[in-house]
Amino acid sequence: MVIREASHVDWQDIYPFFRSIVDKGETYAYPADLSVQEAEHLWMERPPGLTVVAVQGDVIVGSAKMGPNRPGRGSHVATASFMVHPDHQGQSVGRSLGNYVLAWARERGYRSIQFNAVVETNVAAVQLWRSLGFTILTTIPEAFDHPEQGLVGLHVMHMTLGER
Ligand SMILES: CC(C)(COP(=O)(O)OP(=O)(O)OC[C@H]1O[C@@H](n2cnc3c(N)ncnc32)[C@H](O)[C@@H]1OP(=O)(O)O)[C@@H](O)C(=O)NCCC(=O)NCCS
Repeated sequence: MVIREASHVDWQDIYPFFRSIVDKGETYAYPADLSVQEAEHLWMERPPGLTVVAVQGDVIVGSAKMGPNRPGRGSHVATASFMVHPDHQGQSVGRSLGNYVLAWARERGYRSIQFNAVVETNVAAVQLWRSLGFTILTTIPEAFDHPEQGLVGLHVMHMTLGER
């Protein structure tokens, strides 16, 4: 599997699984009625951020976006988001993308990385981030309206990357 920078052309392959993950409503608090263009603007980062795709053969099996969590005086903390095509989940694509993001953030001198809103019922994500070294700093109670489980918490997950 190769992880490379995503291009505008890749969006047509990312959008279907972006759409299905957002429509399922279990993992992201994105608006439900995003147009293709709005979704592209949201997912495809501009510098200093970056969006990448994970490619197996010629199939895009996942994507991640990364960049500063806050502008200006908060820009030494990174953040990232991940989507793996449902047909390819559980095959280490998310782990590879996670490791890529951590290496990217370290190379650019980010001091830490923070995930702002990990749905507490998203066992796969919580397990994966913990196994990569993240800890749960806090859980915002009832912050996410899960389609089946109702109001559930959002974890703020954090990992220190090193000195600047
Ligand atoms: C969460 C997500 C990114 C994980 O990617 P993935 O490719 O499915 O996960 P991987 O195969 O790399 O699994 C890595 C680890 O995650 C955990 N994991 C994955 N699926 C799991 C499941 N169904 N139950 C419990 N843990 C699971 C395991 O710890 C696994 O470690 P292992 O490889 O040692 O078994 C992916 O499932 C996804 O895109 N989900 C929908 C969108 C989403 O939730 N994004 C993240 C929001 S914070």
